[in-house]
Amino acid sequence: MTTRFYQLTASEFDWKITEGKTIKAWGFDYTFPGPVLKAKKGDTLVIRLKNELPEPTMIHWHGIRLPAAMDGTGDVQRPIQPGEEFEYRFVVPDAGTFWYHSHYNETVQMERGMYGALIVEDENDPVFDAEKVLVIDDVKLNANNEFKKGNAIQRWIERHDGRQGKTILVNGKEKPVIRINAGQTERWRFINASSARYVRLSLSGKEFRIIGTDGGLIEKPIEVNEVLITPGERIDIIAGAFEEGENFLIETLAYNRTTVVKTRRQTLATVTVRETKPSIASIPAELRKIETLAATGAAVNRKISFEVDMNFKHGVDFLVNGNMHDRDKPVYVDELQVWEIENTSMMDHPYHLHGFFFQVIEENGKAPLYKAWKDSYNLKPKSKIKIAWIPDNRPGEWMYHCHILEHHAAGMMSHFEVVDPKNGSQRTTHHHHHHHHAM
Ligand code: C2O
Ligand code: CU
Repeated sequence: MTTRFYQLTASEFDWKITEGKTIKAWGFDYTFPGPVLKAKKGDTLVIRLKNELPEPTMIHWHGIRLPAAMDGTGDVQRPIQPGEEFEYRFVVPDAGTFWYHSHYNETVQMERGMYGALIVEDENDPVFDAEKVLVIDDVKLNANNEFKKGNAIQRWIERHDGRQGKTILVNGKEKPVIRINAGQTERWRFINASSARYVRLSLSGKEFRIIGTDGGLIEKPIEVNEVLITPGERIDIIAGAFEEGENFLIETLAYNRTTVVKTRRQTLATVTVRETKPSIASIPAELRKIETLAATGAAVNRKISFEVDMNFKHGVDFLVNGNMHDRDKPVYVDELQVWEIENTSMMDHPYHLHGFFFQVIEENGKAPLYKAWKDSYNLKPKSKIKIAWIPDNRPGEWMYHCHILEHHAAGMMSHFEVVDPKNGSQRTTHHHHHHHHAM
């Protein structure tokens, strides 16, 4: 087990998204996205963040099962002020595709590029000829390639739909060309870092196999010809082997999530298949065993609801359990949680739980297609999911929320405490902090 040190600087810089288009990005280490951080399962990561932005920031390590104090939210740390440094230090206990992103003034900071991939490898990972990390985002720019707030109507639409921009980026570039050699098989790790865009991933209709998601490998490869990746989610696929000259597009297909502005089919990237090369890839039929936490039909010990309320005050409110910035009951270390999460609204919401993986054991009464460790899962309109998870011994303040950033900011979130029964609740002075924008 190694300790790996990273130094990151958060700042504003010019970033060229394509020929003739440069934006004023905010990000880590002058790249958009920030650098890919790599570690091996069990390593300790030490990340020193220096804030050179004109406003505070914090980093959330999305999907990592770390101690509460390292979760990078306003519940567990003081925002890092301009000019200050902060050191994050934690063990990465699971292999998989994770990511890090600002958890402060997210609708601005993440939009401008404050995110990056965090890849945790395992010595037992399947062997590929190569691997690619593909982080998908979109940005909303005006005619001068600036990030600008729109007029009142556009702002209302953004509050309702979440912000979707017309400029789609893969690893910070517009429609990049991706190269792969014919005859070779690669692992492509997709991360949806966009504020609100649902990516319905397609490789020009070709079949491909999913091998992993939020919490690492699934049990066996699943063959599909498209997959939904909601904001915050990750999907790992087997890409290839392709034949020479078999060029195609990576696309996102139309998805209707009951927004004012409809999402159309769009190109994310172009894939060029180059000359044939030999392959050393070896992907077992059984990738991993995932023990079942609770059976379909298990008794529910908590009910949660995600609600959208149309009213005269804000036009539209985003609520959890009837409240903006809700506070949910504590959970106790090692007590199995079976939560029923209902989406009473007509819109989709990507549910995200900080710091712990869950298994979806039912969706509208049925077992899902395959078993997986998840930290983000789409709540379809007027539907219910049942999740099972165990709060392991990492007491402290945690949260769950909609990962459409504008919904989260509008209050579609809930705080809760994981309590170690030997020590009791450690909550002290958090009571007035729930309504400012440092979430
Ligand atoms: Cu990636 Cu609080 O979320
Ligand atoms: Cu939402």
